[in-house]
Amino acid sequence: MAAIEMAVNGQQREFETEGERSLLEVLREDFGLTGTKYGCGEGACRACTVLVDGKAVQSCITKVEALRGKRIETIESLATDGKLHPVQKAFLEEEAMQCGYCVPGMIMTTVGLLRSNGSPSTEQIIEGLNGNICRCCGYTNLLKAAQRACGRSKA
Ligand code: FES
Ligand code: FES
Repeated sequence: MAAIEMAVNGQQREFETEGERSLLEVLREDFGLTGTKYGCGEGACRACTVLVDGKAVQSCITKVEALRGKRIETIESLATDGKLHPVQKAFLEEEAMQCGYCVPGMIMTTVGLLRSNGSPSTEQIIEGLNGNICRCCGYTNLLKAAQRACGRSKA
């Protein structure tokens, strides 16, 4: 067992667990944060994207033992005081979801992109979301939503 302490959505967490467990498993099964989705479980779809110290990572392949002292943000952290985060609003406004399974990962990737670059170009947005897989193939509206969120939409 490993003793882990990390901040999750602004709340300090101290717990003991097998250090080999994935962050995704701990978030969903121990903390009940099921907004982060399990897609492939092997780092290939980014459905499980969360932010670690402000950077987008695939939580399914990130072991909790590597996260001592880190700051984790999940999709549940975005809305505040009952108001959606601007990136969430952009995805709703562009109706960028069919089943919606990929959307938390898409949104967290977009938030991470905006943290590192406040005004990404369309090419940078496409590059940033490259690797986020949508099994419904809703890429047109997903890209529009990310563009809107990044201030690139003509709408
Ligand atoms: S579930 Fe993590 S990358 Fe697919
Ligand atoms: S909307 Fe269904 S996986 Fe993307």
